[in-house]
Amino acid sequence: MGKDVIIACDFDSAEKTFAFLDKFTGRKPFVKIGMELYYAEGPSIVREIKKRGHKIFLDLKLHDIPNTVKKSMAVLSRLDVDMTNLHAAGTVRMMEGAIEGLTRPDGTRPLLIAVTQLTSTDQESMEKDLLIKEPIADVVMHYAHNAKLAGLDGVVCSPLEAGKVHETCGEKFLTVTPGVRFADGDIGDQKRVMTPAEAKKIGSDYIVVGRPITAAEDPVAAYERCVREFVD
Ligand code: C5P
Repeated sequence: MGKDVIIACDFDSAEKTFAFLDKFTGRKPFVKIGMELYYAEGPSIVREIKKRGHKIFLDLKLHDIPNTVKKSMAVLSRLDVDMTNLHAAGTVRMMEGAIEGLTRPDGTRPLLIAVTQLTSTDQESMEKDLLIKEPIADVVMHYAHNAKLAGLDGVVCSPLEAGKVHETCGEKFLTVTPGVRFADGDIGDQKRVMTPAEAKKIGSDYIVVGRPITAAEDPVAAYERCVREFVD
């Protein structure tokens, strides 16, 4: 899979999601289904969106003992998603279990991406709450390295970290980057943002874009603008 724009479908019902997706009569966007929508509607929402011809990033961020993650990944793999994820903090063994569970009998599997440190965690909370004393940038790179060791395909990171992740883990190790805003758009609650064009320049492989598309007056035009700036 090449560079693509992934729309974060952060809706709380199938009805709202389909009302949104119905607007896309041309190119079918790659969509991200997160915990909110998945917990509201269950696996049927994944099957239905897949049936409509969209690629799916199932963003459930698994983190449990290796055996539980392995078995859960086997179930997610049968949902035929294109990309899913977990927390690198679950250890290399947990990530290896995830790969094992995700791999289908024919050897194929969805892309597996690790979350390093959440962008909501800062140096202070990491030291105080998690007792991790290293600089957060080093922790992020260490987790990315662990993900690569375990055989994962890439990490979710800030577009600002994408270049460093590629330096550390290789050009082929994927960077999936949220925190994208148009130059003339609203930043909202995101702190460190980049435009789609900047994310492309810095080497992001996939950008995850939510509100700049979902809350736009014309979501299809906003999506097409993202594709123009990031992919074309
Ligand atoms: O609306 P917005 O473009 O900010 O949406 C970004 C999406 O990416 C949301 O689904 C958010 O949960 C997700 N995300 C993020 N930052 C991370 C990881 C995921 O914004 N570090």
